[in-house]
Amino acid sequence: MRNLLPIIRTNDSHPGGRSALTCRFRCGDACFHEVPNTTANPYVGDVIAGALSRRSVMRAAAVVTAAAAAGTAATVAAAPQAEAATADRGHRPSSKGARGLRFTPVAPNTNDAVTVPDGYGQNVVIRWGEPILRGAPAFDPENQTAKAQAGQFGYNCDFLALLPLPGEYGRQILVANHEYTDEILMFRGYDAANPTREQVEIAWAAHGLSAVVVEGERKTGKLVPVPRHPLNRRVTATTEFRVTGPAAGSDLLKTSADPTGTKVLGTLNNCAGGTTPWGTTLHGEENFNQYFANGTRATDKRYGVTATGTERKWERFDKRFDVAQEPNEVHRHGYVVELDPYDPHSTPRKRTALGRFKHEGATVRLTEDGRPVVYSGDDERFDYFYKFVGSKRMKKGSGRAVREHNLSLLDEGTLYVAKLTGDSPAIEIDGTGKLPGDGEFDGSGEWIPLATATTDGAVSHVEGMTAEEVFVFTRLAGDKVGATKMDRPEDVEPNPHTGKVYVALTNNTNRGKTGYAGVDEANPRNSNKHGQVLELTERWNRADSTEFAWSLFLVAGDPNDPATYFAGFPKDQVSPISCPDNVAFDPYGNLWISTDGAQLGSHDGLFGVATRGERRGELKQFLTVPTGAETCGPIVQDRRVLVAVQHPGEVDGASVEKPASAWPDGPGKFVRPAVVAVWRKDGCDIGV
Ligand code: FEO
Ligand code: CA
Ligand code: CA
Ligand code: CA
Repeated sequence: MRNLLPIIRTNDSHPGGRSALTCRFRCGDACFHEVPNTTANPYVGDVIAGALSRRSVMRAAAVVTAAAAAGTAATVAAAPQAEAATADRGHRPSSKGARGLRFTPVAPNTNDAVTVPDGYGQNVVIRWGEPILRGAPAFDPENQTAKAQAGQFGYNCDFLALLPLPGEYGRQILVANHEYTDEILMFRGYDAANPTREQVEIAWAAHGLSAVVVEGERKTGKLVPVPRHPLNRRVTATTEFRVTGPAAGSDLLKTSADPTGTKVLGTLNNCAGGTTPWGTTLHGEENFNQYFANGTRATDKRYGVTATGTERKWERFDKRFDVAQEPNEVHRHGYVVELDPYDPHSTPRKRTALGRFKHEGATVRLTEDGRPVVYSGDDERFDYFYKFVGSKRMKKGSGRAVREHNLSLLDEGTLYVAKLTGDSPAIEIDGTGKLPGDGEFDGSGEWIPLATATTDGAVSHVEGMTAEEVFVFTRLAGDKVGATKMDRPEDVEPNPHTGKVYVALTNNTNRGKTGYAGVDEANPRNSNKHGQVLELTERWNRADSTEFAWSLFLVAGDPNDPATYFAGFPKDQVSPISCPDNVAFDPYGNLWISTDGAQLGSHDGLFGVATRGERRGELKQFLTVPTGAETCGPIVQDRRVLVAVQHPGEVDGASVEKPASAWPDGPGKFVRPAVVAVWRKDGCDIGV
C-alpha cells in the first residue's frame, strides 16, 4: 500500500528514535528534556575487583541448579557458539531454526501493513472505538463523545494479556493497556492550543485498560471480540482505584478530593504489564509525569514533571493535574496497578510496595516456596531496574478467601534495585561496542534492598529516607544506593523454562555525551541508537536471590555493523533489529522481542530468538507493523501470535486531514490502533 505521507527518517531530527509526534503525545518529549537522573552514581566499569572468580562460581551454580530442575544437563543453556561472525557476507536468516522459530523471516520493509511470513494469515481482532460494553454505540469518529468512548475499546493499545475462560469453549479474556492518546489523529481540526472539554474527556475515556472476551475461530487462529459479554470492562483515567501497600494513606498521597490518601481516580500511560499466576493482570504506569503541570519541586524534576503547562492541557479542566494547586495528585501515579479481570465489579488497585517510577511493565515469577517476585524496568535514559520479593505465599484454589488472600500478595515484601559490575577492565569497554578481551559483555550484580513492607508497617533500608519516601520517591532511593544507570530499561521478563531474566534496554543516544554518564560493560556503546538485551541469572537460579550474574545476550543493530552481537550466533544468518522494547516467551522458551522506534530504515517489528541450544542467538523477524506504528504487547501461543499495533500513522506532519497511514481500514478512514492475531494457514503450530 502506498504511504500517504513520505516516511520521515526520524533519527535525524529526534534523539530517541521516534517521530516527534510520538514524543509529543507519548512521553511528553522526554528525550528533548534534560535527563532527570543527574546523580553521580558509580558505573559498572568503576567496580571490577574480584568479579571474575565470583561470576564463574555463580555461573556454575546456576547451571547445576537448572540442570537439577530439568532432570538433565543437556537442557541447560549451551555455551554461545565460538565461530566468528561474518558480517560481510550479508545476512541470510533461514526458514529453518529452533522449534517455534521455523518460518521464513520477514524482510525489513516499510509496508503500510502488518506483514507476516509466507503461509501465515492474520486478522484485526479489535480496533480503537469498537463497542465492548452493553449500550455502547458503534464507532463514529466524526461525532465521538466521552460517554461513547467509555464503552468502547481505548486508544493506543500496548500490553496484552489473554486469560482462560473456563466453561466458555474457545473463549478467553483479552486485557489491553491503552497507553496514551494522539489527539491530532483522533479529532478532525484538532487545535492543540485550545482543546475542548469534550475532547479532553474523550481522551480520559480512551486511556486506561480494556477487558474484552474474545472467541477463536475453530479452523484458523482468527480471534473476534464478544461485545456485551458481562466480563467486558473499561477502566479509564477517571475510574476509582484503591491504593494499597505501604504508601496507602500516607500524607504524601492525600489530596483535597481524597483526604484518606487511598482512593485515586484513574490510571495513566499504561505501557507494558504482566499476568500473575493467581489470575490477575498487572499494568505499569509509565510516563505519568507528562499529564501534570507546574511541578517545581526537586522530586517533580527527578520524575520529569514539567514546571510549565502540559501538551494536552488537562490542568485547565481538572485542577488535580495542576501540581501548583494539588501538589500530591502526581504522587498517586507511577505505580503498578492490578486488575482482577474475573470480577468486573472489583476496584482495581495501585500497588505501592512495587515503588513509584516510570514502570514499563511488571512480570511475575514465584519463589520455590510460592512467593511472588516482580521485575520492573524504569523506562528513562540512565534509570534503573527493580525487583520486588513478596513475603506471603500464593494459595492455590479458586474460593473467595483464596482469591482475597492472593490479591494481597503484592502489598508485603522487599523492593530492590539492581547494581551491575562488569568483569572486564574498564579500558576494554571503549564505547564502540567492540567485545572485551574475554569475549563477552558480562559480570555480576546485586539487588540492593530499598525498603520492606510488612503487616506491622514498613522499614526503610536507605539512609536519610523514610519507608514512605522510598515507596513514593523510589528513583531518589535508587540514586542514594548507587544503582546502575541503564540505557532505558523497558520490559523485564523471566524465561519460564530456565528462570533466566531478560531485560530489554531500548536505546540511549545520550550515553557518553558531554555531561552524561559514559559507557560501562552493561551499557557499552556511546550514543546507543539500537539498544541491547541483557540476560540475568539469579544466583542458584533462585528468584529471591540478592546476587546475580549477567551478560549481554544481544547488542542490537545491523548485523553488518561490527558493534552488534547475537549471543555469538553467526551474524550473516540473523535479521537486523533495533530498539528492543517488549519481550515475551513462546511455549518452547524462545524469546520474542517487539521493537519501538527502529532505526534501520524498516518499520518496527516482532522477532523471535532462540535462548538455548546450538541456535541460541539466531534472531528472525516474524512480522512488521504499518507506517508510524510500534509493535507492542506480544503474546506467542502454540497456534497464535497476538500483537498490539500502537500509534499507526504517528508520523511528523500527520493529522486526520493528512493521514500518514491507511491502516487498518484503507484510505479515507481514520487510522486506528488495533490488536492483530496471526496464525499458520495450514492449521499447524507457529514455527514448528
Ligand atoms: Fe511505553 Fe517504554 O514504552
Ligand atoms: Ca566481560
Ligand atoms: Ca513500550
Ligand atoms: Ca512482556
